[in-house]
Order: sequence, then structure tokens, then C-alpha cells
Amino acid sequence: MPVIRHVSPHERLTARLRAAGCVFAEDEARLLIDAAPTPEALERMAGRRVAGLPLEHILGWAEFCGLRIAVDTGVFVPRRRTEFLVRQAAALLDASRLALSAGPAPVVVDLCCGSGAVGAALAALAGPAELHCADIDPAAVACARTNVLPLGGEVHEGDLYAPLPAGLRGRVRLLAVNAPYVPSADIETMPQEARVHEPRACLDGGADGLQVQRRVAAGARQWLAPGGHVLIETSRRQAAQTAGILRRHGLAARVLRSEELGATVVAGALPPSAGR
Ligand SMILES: C[S@@+](CC[C@H](N)C(=O)[O-])C[C@H]1O[C@@H](n2cnc3c(N)ncnc32)[C@H](O)[C@@H]1O
Repeated sequence: MPVIRHVSPHERLTARLRAAGCVFAEDEARLLIDAAPTPEALERMAGRRVAGLPLEHILGWAEFCGLRIAVDTGVFVPRRRTEFLVRQAAALLDASRLALSAGPAPVVVDLCCGSGAVGAALAALAGPAELHCADIDPAAVACARTNVLPLGGEVHEGDLYAPLPAGLRGRVRLLAVNAPYVPSADIETMPQEARVHEPRACLDGGADGLQVQRRVAAGARQWLAPGGHVLIETSRRQAAQTAGILRRHGLAARVLRSEELGATVVAGALPPSAGR
């Protein structure tokens, strides 16, 4: 007699997701099954995933630095490699706390914050700080507010530094920036999840990918406290140029690299004795 093997809903969904090209089909199937309140909802969620929507937009959250970060549709999904930016920022904040010992909580700014993942992770993991996040996209700002306000931070809407409270000028100890840095012509080579489902303004860094970084660097000196740091995520290929841009604005720059996360960050320091 033929043996009839029972196929579980998890196995069935895994096979369906694998056939659609999902690399982590087993894990994704488990997350979708756990999140769906009814079989009909699961079918809708699976259909959206098979059609290419990012898993995080279907679930409504992304895991980042061990936290669940809310991510609304149309908002950039925080990437695993950006955890390196957070780790470096947390280390610099620790070092500056040791050096300054007393005094008010350090001012931390997450510029181009998207969902606010970087700021939220720093607020949760790096000790007390006065946290400000900013983004130009109203959808990102609304999403960041759900992540950052409960942690005591503020979120501002506008172009780069423009919406930040003027009282922060010259007081920012740490400026963390994951701005768009993909060269315009490379966007069409990106995976469909990013190319189709994330707004182009999240990705497009202009002809050489460095246009937003240039504007960030041009303003950094006015906002950083003496001895403060700006950390900019970039690509390995662009790192030397990103560092050069920071140096042209009077910051001491060094390139930091994590092979484990495939991540590159350029750190720029404003000398403690810097005038503006
Ligand atoms: C690559 S996403 C990074 C989001 C977030 N920092 C993260 O790592 O998840 C870049 C973000 O920069 C924002 N952005 C682009 N141009 C901007 C500008 N001129 N001023 C403020 N935000 C900007 C986009 O809306 C997007 O949310």
C-alpha cells in the first residue's frame, strides 16, 4: 500500500515561498503562520510575499539589533548591515561618556532616519541620550514616531538639518547617518524588493551616490559639539570618497569595516578645539 505522508501547512507554505525565490523560505513561513490571525489572512499574506513584497512590510516589523522595529509599507526596511553603524555609534557614545563623566545626556541625531531604527536601537542599547531623528518623508516620520517616541526621542520632518531645533547647533555629540548612497544608474540592478517596494528617495544618492552625503558633510561642522562624531554608512567601493568629503569639511575621517555584516561606515570627528 502506498504510504501517504501528511504535509504540514508550514511545509506547504515553505515550498510555495521557495518556489517564489525566497531564500529563507522556512523561517519566513513560520513568521507568516505565527502572524496570521486566520487562514484567510495567511493566504493574503502569503500571496503578497509571493508577489514580491518585502516580508517586513507584510509583518509590519523588522528585527534590528534584537528589537522589533515597526516598518510601514513604503518605508525603508532597516538592513542587518546597519547594525554595524549602531555598534560603532554606541562605542563612541560610551567613550565620550567616560571622557566627559558629568554633564547632561549626550545629544544624538539620527539623520535620514526612515523607520527610526538606528535612533531607536541607540536609545534602547546605548544608555541615556537626548535623541532627535529626522527624515524628509512624512510616511517615514510617522513610522519613526511609533518607534522612537516611546523611548523618549523626538522625530522631525524636513530636509536634512532644516527641521532640527536650532538649540542643537554645536551640541550634537553623535550624528548617525544612513542616507541614500546608491548611484542612480545602479538602482535598476537592485533586488525587486528594494527597487519596486521602497521609495526611490530612500535609495538614490544621485549620479555617484554621494550627493546626500556631501550635503550631510557640509552641515556637520555647524551641528557637532567639539569632539563630536558623524558616522555615515556607505559602501566599500565609495568609502574613500566618503572619507574625502568629510576631510574637506575639516573632520578627521577614518573608514570602519565589518566583514561579518558586509558593512562599511566612515567616522568623522570634529577636533575638540574646533571653531566654526
Ligand atoms: C537608506 S534609507 C535609511 C533609513 C534609516 N536610516 C535606516 O537605516 O533604516 C534613507 C532615508 O533617507 C531619507 N532621505 C532622503 N533624502 C533626505 C533628505 N534630503 N532629508 C532627510 N531625509 C532624507 C529617506 O526618506 C529615507 O528614509
